Amino acid sequence: MLAYVLIAILIVFLNFKSWQVRRRCKDVLNLPGPKNYPFIGTILEFGNNPVDFLKNMQRLFEEHGPILRFWNNTEYPTVMISGAKYMEIILGSSEHLQRTRLYRLLEVWLGNGILVTDATTWRKNRKLLNPMFNTKILEGFIPTFERLSNILVDKIRENISVPFDVFPLINLYSLDMICESAMGHEINAQLNPEFQYVKSCKRFLELHLERLFSLLKTNDFLYSFMDASKEQMEHVELIKSIAKNVIKEKISNFHNKDCNKPKDMMDMFLNIVRDGNLTQTEVRNEVDTLIFAGHDTVASVLSMVIFELGKNQGVQVRLIQEIDENISGNEEITLSKLNKLPYLECVLKESMRLHPPVPFTERLIRKDFTIDGYLIPAKTNICVHFYGLHRDPDHFPNPDHFDPERFTPENTPKGTSFVSPLSVLVLETA
Ligand code: HEM
Repeated sequence: MLAYVLIAILIVFLNFKSWQVRRRCKDVLNLPGPKNYPFIGTILEFGNNPVDFLKNMQRLFEEHGPILRFWNNTEYPTVMISGAKYMEIILGSSEHLQRTRLYRLLEVWLGNGILVTDATTWRKNRKLLNPMFNTKILEGFIPTFERLSNILVDKIRENISVPFDVFPLINLYSLDMICESAMGHEINAQLNPEFQYVKSCKRFLELHLERLFSLLKTNDFLYSFMDASKEQMEHVELIKSIAKNVIKEKISNFHNKDCNKPKDMMDMFLNIVRDGNLTQTEVRNEVDTLIFAGHDTVASVLSMVIFELGKNQGVQVRLIQEIDENISGNEEITLSKLNKLPYLECVLKESMRLHPPVPFTERLIRKDFTIDGYLIPAKTNICVHFYGLHRDPDHFPNPDHFDPERFTPENTPKGTSFVSPLSVLVLETA
């Protein structure tokens, strides 16, 4: 009997919540979108893994157009966009900076780092971090990147006699690059793939991805009882302890340095601590954010470039020719030499178009605003779908075809740009 009463109360409660949201979000719910079933809403449309999710989204954009809605019937709906003009409204505005619940799942590792933090902290910390991405600092990393690339080439040579998966090698390489540049610390992942830090980063990401696509695991309370949560925490503790120790050691050596001429990112971080703008913990969060955001993305881009070059031999031949003409075997690589490789840039852009390593991002709307005459109320989630935009034939004719020529200066549509410095491919409407 008690069970029936509880179920009845739950149904009344859910209906009430549903009615409340329906009243507030009537415009959003009128947007095109998949069929909304009682109780489960549109939840079955998502898929339970990243590949199905991308395929389903692509199908839904084709069926319903570049703006559509999802709803689970109780909480605020999610608006999915793949149209350039909608992206510009969201990403081009300083109003829409608030991250959604999805990002909270990363707080165990990244604390309040800029990828996951609230809009106010983001504004302050982003300003502090921006100078780290200036050309002078980035140029200083080129010899390091070259040394690490030579190790990668050797590792690939050791495996080349039989077919093999290149991603794990590139993943170690990108982890080396990001740790040396963000922490100023050599972890030698390529030479020491069994190092626990390397394994923990990999395992954390696997568990995180599983969590993203599981309704039960995205619930913090339920997740805290699961073995996966305990395992994830163990890996996070280890990862964080490395960055913490590196920062501690760097701070103790800092007084020997000329602080006014920072040479790398860590020097700049230490200046920020010295000036009292961030605490050591906050700096660790930002260092961890760079490592998290910078290693898997780069590994994924480079792996997909190799995949596309393998499939498109003509492109490969032309690229090798460009490199051979501008950089001879034993010369060291410099920024000015890299700037003489425009075709390489086209290949990278085209590969990122087809295989964006971050296929979507989300923002939580904090103030009501209007798109195409539809009122989007505060608390609505907006999912900005780069993957959908990149395969939109209106912007990229024959979108599944790999064609670096799309990005030569003559062919690039007016107003197309990469959002700098994060290499996110979006189209700006002119
Ligand atoms: C080609 C490789 C990369 C791609 C495609 C990429 C893409 C992105 C995207 C789409 C975002 C926005 C995420 C969001 O708001 O939800 C982002 C944020 C970020 N990325 Fe990358 N990224 C790449 C490489 C890197 C590297 C190498 C670093 C570090 C050196 C890095 C550091 C960051 C940081 C710190 C943020 C947060 C920035 C902020 O919120 O202001 N990324 N990236």
